[in-house]
Amino acid sequence: MTPQPLALCAKGLGFHVGGVRILDNVELAVATGSFLGVIGPNGAGKTTLLNLLSGVVRASEGSVEIEGRDVTREGPARRARRGVGRTFQTSSLFNSLSVFENARLSAQARFGGSAKFWRLPRASDDASAAAHGALERVGLTSQAARIAGGLSHGDKRKLELAILLAGEARVLLLDEPMAGVNSEDVPALTALIDQLHGEGRTVIMVEHHMSVVVGLADTIAVLDSGRILAVGDPETVIANDDVQSAYLGQPL
Ligand SMILES: Nc1ncnc2c1ncn2[C@@H]1O[C@H](COP(=O)(O)OP(=O)(O)O)[C@@H](O)[C@H]1O
Ligand SMILES: [Mg+2]
Repeated sequence: MTPQPLALCAKGLGFHVGGVRILDNVELAVATGSFLGVIGPNGAGKTTLLNLLSGVVRASEGSVEIEGRDVTREGPARRARRGVGRTFQTSSLFNSLSVFENARLSAQARFGGSAKFWRLPRASDDASAAAHGALERVGLTSQAARIAGGLSHGDKRKLELAILLAGEARVLLLDEPMAGVNSEDVPALTALIDQLHGEGRTVIMVEHHMSVVVGLADTIAVLDSGRILAVGDPETVIANDDVQSAYLGQPL
């Protein structure tokens, strides 16, 4: 039997700025199709970890592999073409463009990579179809013509997921996808992320809502002061004494 390939792997990953260690010796092995929840106090380095995995920020040391290939020196666009999609803690939409245009731009980056002019009309059709499909998938078809900036927080988060789908991302890096979302919209968004994972995608999600993380993730990694404090199944990790003290004063 061939071993299941790792979707993503970090080896000795570190990031420091002016002598300050922001992230230190992070080791992660994320199996294809698995769901890793990343938790930790504010300033622990969670967003920095996603920046290093997606290529938004270059590692100071260590390496990142996507499906067994070393991508440490690749930027975010190349990693996106390898199927790694990223959402940001604060919304990164083109607020003055329509919901559809936001999704289509992502699909176009995927399909429209050819500079050959005779490919463009077809690429454009493919991109539009992919955008429509992605919006339907997240339940935003009726909002397609609206200006993205006018959406509710919950719908903006759905559009960010549609953008990843339109770009055919297979590995989803989600930075606090529930941030700013009304509590009544959290269950639908949670169900959507669960479905996207259930279809075979790999997910790495940073999230403060512990009930959401515990409900979705099969593995949890706890970051504290730039280091991985614990990794394991949700129950074991939350019961861990080191984890409890890192969160002292904060509800788990
Ligand atoms: N490029 C940078 N330069 C200086 N400090 C940074 C940089 N990126 C992150 N940091 C610092 O690193 C720490 C971790 O930040 P971050 O990854 O955003 O944490 P989290 O997402 O867990 O709240 C914070 O103290 C932040 O100010
Ligand atoms: Mg953060």
